[in-house]
Amino acid sequence: MNIVTATAELTPIAKAGGLGDMASFLSREWIKMGHKPIIVLPKYSFIDTNKWGFRNTLKTIIVQMGYWLEYGLLWEGKLPGSDVPVYLVEHEGYFNRGGIYGDPNEYADNDRRFIFFSKAVFEVCRAIGFSPDVIHAHDFHTAFTMSFLKEFYRIDPLFSKTAGVYTIHNLAYQGKFNPETALKYAGIPWSKFYPFSDYEYYGLVNAMKVGIMNADKITTVSPNYAQEIRWSYYGEGMEGVINLRAADFLGILNGIDYDEWNPETDKSIGVNYNKFNLEGKRQNKHQLLRDYGLSDLDDLDMPVISMVTRLAEQKGIDLVVNKMEELLETTNFRLFVLGSGEYNYEQFLRYLQSRFPKKAIIHIGHDIALSHRIFAASDYFLMPSRFEPCGLTQMFSLRYGAIPIARETGGIADTVKEYNYENMTGNGFTFWQYNADDMAFAIRRALGVYNIIPHWDKIRQNAMNENYSAKQTATHYLDVFRWAKENVQ
Ligand code: ADP
Ligand code: GLC
Repeated sequence: MNIVTATAELTPIAKAGGLGDMASFLSREWIKMGHKPIIVLPKYSFIDTNKWGFRNTLKTIIVQMGYWLEYGLLWEGKLPGSDVPVYLVEHEGYFNRGGIYGDPNEYADNDRRFIFFSKAVFEVCRAIGFSPDVIHAHDFHTAFTMSFLKEFYRIDPLFSKTAGVYTIHNLAYQGKFNPETALKYAGIPWSKFYPFSDYEYYGLVNAMKVGIMNADKITTVSPNYAQEIRWSYYGEGMEGVINLRAADFLGILNGIDYDEWNPETDKSIGVNYNKFNLEGKRQNKHQLLRDYGLSDLDDLDMPVISMVTRLAEQKGIDLVVNKMEELLETTNFRLFVLGSGEYNYEQFLRYLQSRFPKKAIIHIGHDIALSHRIFAASDYFLMPSRFEPCGLTQMFSLRYGAIPIARETGGIADTVKEYNYENMTGNGFTFWQYNADDMAFAIRRALGVYNIIPHWDKIRQNAMNENYSAKQTATHYLDVFRWAKENVQ
């Protein structure tokens, strides 16, 4: 199949979170299976084109915005570590800035930037003569491709057999825009903007709704989140729209690249290990702690609970703010956090570090190589998310034998199961209520298994025996693409 991935993020070139990982993991799997994926991404100015081997094709991309034309430049290269073609769309005005979505606040012209990019995706296909079986759009940034396919491009033979599949990674970010400008940029006539129409959402244009209403099929990133968002608690006001499209909607569990994320071969970690020999894991822990200024005198064998996370409300950081100080005071463990995001959370974590210099190690920033080292070094991984469409970090932690302590929500509930001492099943420790005491209780239960043979060995084996590989995810998407194509035969 010819598959176009239209995305605002791509790991490792331009990553903010799991969306970038999935865009990369899926295409890598599809190309291994003999399909022809291509990826289209904005050329953000921070992308190091030399390092990643991109070249300027000198081809101009002409984009019809409303009644006027705008121009982009086409760059081409490969997804690092694979043969997947990646096309970057350069536009000085839109993408020559510090951030992907904002810096730090959302850019005020995100409607214009992403509507331009969503049209450019089709023009890239024209420029390279690529006739897609499917355009796979991700989140609100590229949601307009679903509408443009139907409104403007299917009349072109290049796209007459192209299906549109839209994947929701996070309903919390919807792209709510001023209709006067958004419709003008999109070239969608006012006559299509009326109460309850595809383009109207409480008097605004809502890109998420545009994607959901216009796609042939809609997916989200875990079966459990697919159920949760049919109701108002998790639906973020989109539950009515989701239920309208229920017949074409399903959840496909994300997966991770098992080659890139493999403790046996991972080059970012000091000592490779596997589930039969976890001694290497202990050595990784000691190395990491020493790098952060601790010595053998500081009991390097104390359990380490880590977090690798965006510091955003979604991730349950409020529970950590509420309880971590008390926990560190009363309980024997070390906390290691790698994260960046909201200033208040960063400040709180800095405070924790100053209060517990030997017990709380805080690294504010974004560092992919360090994240690998942390998964390899940790005994536990804390993920108290308020909501979590899927979550990839619990999958990384399982793969690296770091036991998740996580809230049962979204994709976490599909992947992390409470350990049962009697029959020795389960791979982690969970809590359900969004409540700091419940989180603390789960942490205490989790610490209770540390070094208790045979349970400590068994739970880590269970974790490392799980199979959440992106291969299964990629296969599942292909089924959905075939299903979507039934609409355009
Ligand atoms: P989300 O996309 O909501 O942030 P996911 O768990 O799906 O959550 O994906 C997060 C991705 O971003 C993972 O690959 C995780 O390792 C990575 N990540 C998050 N914060 C950092 C950080 N500070 N440094 C490096 N990687 C990070
Ligand atoms: C979003 C979600 C996260 C999910 C990721 C990849 O960022 O917050 O839960 O794993 O997308 O689908």
